[in-house]
Amino acid sequence: MRVLVTGASGYIGQPVCTELRARGDWVRGFDRTLQVGAVCDEFVLGDLADPYRVAEAVRGVDAIVHLGAVPDEAPFEQLVGPNVSGVFHLFDAARHNNVRRVLLASSVQCASGAPGERRADTRAPVNHYAVTKLFAEDLGEFYARKFGLEVTAARIGWMVRNPEEARRIVELNLTGWYISRADVSRFVHTVIHATFSGYRVVYVVGAGSEGHFDMEPAERLFGFRPAHRFPEGLPFDAE
Ligand SMILES: NC(=O)c1ccc[n+]([C@@H]2O[C@H](COP(=O)([O-])OP(=O)(O)OC[C@H]3O[C@@H](n4cnc5c(N)ncnc54)[C@H](O)[C@@H]3O)[C@@H](O)[C@H]2O)c1
Repeated sequence: MRVLVTGASGYIGQPVCTELRARGDWVRGFDRTLQVGAVCDEFVLGDLADPYRVAEAVRGVDAIVHLGAVPDEAPFEQLVGPNVSGVFHLFDAARHNNVRRVLLASSVQCASGAPGERRADTRAPVNHYAVTKLFAEDLGEFYARKFGLEVTAARIGWMVRNPEEARRIVELNLTGWYISRADVSRFVHTVIHATFSGYRVVYVVGAGSEGHFDMEPAERLFGFRPAHRFPEGLPFDAE
């Protein structure tokens, strides 16, 4: 399969591209920066806010993994380009280029509230970043219903990046939000090769997180069971 991965230079994008290529997919990366760790078959440098560049990146692929974004809370002026305009450009280019399958990186931050209440349809953003992710989910639902795209919104957990974040996830008592890069990469491969139609939203969180988020849809729809629980799968030694 020919797959476009946006945000290919990022923390999640790099292992996702590696995993897809290792399993036989052809990968085109798209990002505004090119990092040494981003290994793709082809790379398009560009900004998600530029509709022409996005359209160029989308042309000729079978599926899109949309990771490119400002990945956490930031001033709205910084969020709006990639997380609002960018996601629109991406869906619009997918529709016009007949690319039906899109996997969208959403976030567990879309669902505040008591752990048992965080169902797949929970809409309770914790900040402006999460509001942009709900906008992306809504666009996905709209393009699926209106134009026949096959869209999965993955509400991804906390992919701890460094020892400082590892300390914070423990201090905040949020280890139930953890997900390893290996588990996310495997999930991405599974979804873009799965048969389904319409729009789905699922939580992609680590083993033992069922007390925090509803993990049933990801298992029922995609047979996904995470292998790691915090601190398993971290790419560094956690104290
Ligand atoms: N890291 C996490 O814990 C986490 C959790 C839930 C969801 N997510 C989501 O997963 C995705 C990837 O997150 P990440 O942790 O790899 O973040 P990251 O910042 O490491 O990667 C994001 C990539 O997007 C690119 N990008 C940003 N703005 C762009 C623009 N305007 N045009 C083109 N490229 C642009 C950046 O250059 C970067 O390489 C994001 O959508 C994020 O919201 C991340």
